[in-house]
Amino acid sequence: MQELIKIKELNMHYPITDGLTGNIKGYTYALNNVNLEIYENEILGLVGESGSGKSTLGNCILRLLKPTSGEIYYRGEDITSKTKKELQEYRKRAQLIFQNPYMSLNPRMKIYDILKEPFIVNKSNPVSHFAADSPSPYKCSIKNREKIEEKIREIISLIGMKEEVLNRYPHEFSGGQRQRIAIARAIILNPEFIAADEPVSALDVSIQAQIINLLIKLKENLNLTMLFISHDLSVIKYISDRIAVMYLGEIVELASKDELFNNHKHPYTEALLNSVPHPQDDTTEKKEIIKGEIPSPQNPPKGCKFHTRCPYVTDKCRIEHPEFYEISPNHRVRCFLCENKS
Ligand SMILES: Nc1ncnc2c1ncn2[C@@H]1O[C@H](COP(=O)(O)OP(=O)(O)OP(=O)(O)O)[C@@H](O)[C@H]1O
Ligand SMILES: [Mg+2]
Repeated sequence: MQELIKIKELNMHYPITDGLTGNIKGYTYALNNVNLEIYENEILGLVGESGSGKSTLGNCILRLLKPTSGEIYYRGEDITSKTKKELQEYRKRAQLIFQNPYMSLNPRMKIYDILKEPFIVNKSNPVSHFAADSPSPYKCSIKNREKIEEKIREIISLIGMKEEVLNRYPHEFSGGQRQRIAIARAIILNPEFIAADEPVSALDVSIQAQIINLLIKLKENLNLTMLFISHDLSVIKYISDRIAVMYLGEIVELASKDELFNNHKHPYTEALLNSVPHPQDDTTEKKEIIKGEIPSPQNPPKGCKFHTRCPYVTDKCRIEHPEFYEISPNHRVRCFLCENKS
């Protein structure tokens, strides 16, 4: 397995400022010492409760945010501190699909212009933009315009829509169709990596499967690598090859999908899995996920961050912070219960 992305000891601490003086009065510890690899051509699922830092991690990887500390490598190249200008090439290779297709498409632009925009913003030549050694400047010659139009038609067909849509505006489409268009825009510059941040959670359940299946198809056809962020374990289970579980800004368990569902070790993963309703359950009541509220990331607990809610808590967990133990190849867990198994 070839590494596409490698993250080392990544921290993102958002400063909290005093409204009056502007002084920093604390931090939101959104990411804490995150270590992670994303392999070429895999779908890595990232799951965790609201506020656990999933979007922050996705945005740091895409370098829409600059992390507080740590390192992010893309194909072995350190992109952690690159400037906007230096990130131009990377912007074409790594794209984001947002949660809300109602907000991510400009209502005043026709679909054709929405899909053309990435070529202009990224000064991208449709013929050469995906060749690493050909940073040819964008000139909208007739030849180029034809190539762009050809590419737009190709992508529209790939996402299962008809060419007629190009002349219409976003408001004329349903949520599912808008998300297809947003996906088309994300893939039009032939990226290698996509971070999809809750791409189906704003959609009707009946539409979700169609969009997920489209993402899987595109991943296969275009050789994409994907970070798929969701709080919905059934969606994560369907789409992912490997799964990372986040809690209060830390990855607490990382394993292949099968290992995570059949042989999970972290009490938080166990609690998340227990919260998924089984189809054979006749109760419509949602099971209680985990006792108590998730602590504030502005004031995270000492020791193991999960200790305040963990049914297996010991004195050690209240004081010491567990490492990310490798308990078997490709299975890591941040829990003292696994300490001696590594
Ligand atoms: N731009 C920001 N400035 C300050 N704090 C932020 C910012 N973005 C996120 N946070 C805080 O960082 C923490 C992690 O947020 P993040 O959005 O990454 O979580 P998430 O797992 O994506 O949650 P959700 O499932 O609700 O989308 C939260 O406490 C959030 O309030
Ligand atoms: Mg989020």
